[in-house]
Amino acid sequence: MPKHGVPNRFKGYHVSDVHWWELAQIVRLERMVFPEPMPLWGVVRKFLSPRTRYLVVRDGRRLIAYFGFEVMAPYAHVLANVTHPDYRRQGLAAFVLTAGQVWARDLGARAFLGEVRMSNLPQLAVLKGVGWSRLATIPRGFKNGEDAYLVLKPFD
Ligand SMILES: CC(C)(COP(=O)(O)OP(=O)(O)OC[C@H]1O[C@@H](n2cnc3c(N)ncnc32)[C@H](O)[C@@H]1OP(=O)(O)O)[C@@H](O)C(=O)NCCC(=O)NCCS
Repeated sequence: MPKHGVPNRFKGYHVSDVHWWELAQIVRLERMVFPEPMPLWGVVRKFLSPRTRYLVVRDGRRLIAYFGFEVMAPYAHVLANVTHPDYRRQGLAAFVLTAGQVWARDLGARAFLGEVRMSNLPQLAVLKGVGWSRLATIPRGFKNGEDAYLVLKPFD
């Protein structure tokens, strides 16, 4: 059922809160795709915070996409969003980033704020497609020295 006009179903997939027993799958996906993955203790600590949400899309019991964010009103700061390599280019990242607005808004946020590596052209393309703007560049915004774009998405 759409909430605030934002659908939470897409191509038979559904977005919902992660369960604690699925956190290991998030950690595995982080390790698979990020040069600086969040360790298990970091993901667990975020999961336990009332300001944080990890939203997930499942295919059976398998997590195929997730979106984590932490609300510091009026912003919801992006922790990560990942689509499993076997499920890319189906619109899942665009879906979960859009659906996430509803959860973030319920926690008091009015916009998403995040940092993206300049080399991350897929993520920059996804964000552009769902209405995010580049606000500024942050020199050496990542631990390995890579520059970042600061990106923003005010809620509709
Ligand atoms: C970035 C990422 C989340 C995109 O996931 P996805 O589910 O494949 O993205 P979507 O299918 O929603 O893409 C929507 C649109 O974005 C653009 N896009 C997505 N991936 C792209 C790519 N590799 N190259 C060019 N454009 C791309 C396209 O316009 C696409 O629409 P189209 O397939 O109809 O052309 C995925 O590649 C990923 O998990 N990367 C590793 C983790 C990461 O970098 N996360 C972001 C930083 S936290």
